[in-house]
Amino acid sequence: MRVLLSAGPTREAIDPVRYISNRSSGRMGYALAEAAIALGHEVDLVSGPVSLPAPEGLHAFEQVVSAAEMSEAMKRLAPAADLIVMCAAVADYRPANVASSKIKKGADSISLELVKTEDILASLGSLKKPGQTLVGFAAETDDLLQNATVKMMKKNLDWIAANDVSRSDRGFDSGSNAVTLLSRDGRRLDLPLQSKREIANAILSAVLA
Ligand code: CTP
Repeated sequence: MRVLLSAGPTREAIDPVRYISNRSSGRMGYALAEAAIALGHEVDLVSGPVSLPAPEGLHAFEQVVSAAEMSEAMKRLAPAADLIVMCAAVADYRPANVASSKIKKGADSISLELVKTEDILASLGSLKKPGQTLVGFAAETDDLLQNATVKMMKKNLDWIAANDVSRSDRGFDSGSNAVTLLSRDGRRLDLPLQSKREIANAILSAVLA
């Protein structure tokens, strides 16, 4: 099977030396890539800026910075994929204008205008081909399963991994994770706290079954 994965954060530039980003380490997406390679699949990984070594044995490895670059890479690689898992923590907003030189310190308070980025997963959902399986993650601090279900339906996903990101022992920037995997046809699989590699194996065996 051809598997396409995204991982890590995106960075949205403010000026040549500053950006907006988030705490994603990329570990969940890289663990998914390593697990899929170990299962013998052909794996393409699109990664935001992380400090992890590239998994060995990838078919394609594309390093991107912004949400716009991630979108371009994902949409280019998606048509060949049997399974797509969007694990990246894509910035929802980017600065409306990127200053061409470093912004100088001046007024006591300044504000930054932000505009929405493309929802890459929703775009992949609207472009989904018959037979293609599309999986998303939902990072939630409240109403975990309800919010995750709404995202799965709105983005036309087959599965969503609901991730409680309000706790420091799992999810963002942690070596372990606990997720509840929900399917469009009503299945529910609770994966308790374990290493991201174990979570990755469990997700792949469920969605590829
Ligand atoms: N996602 C995406 N493009 C975006 C934002 C999110 O592809 N611009 C994807 C993420 O990779 C994840 C899923 O959508 O697989 C859900 O992301 P999440 O941050 O949980 O939710 P949002 O849709 O951004 O909604 P909100 O931040 O309001 O919870």
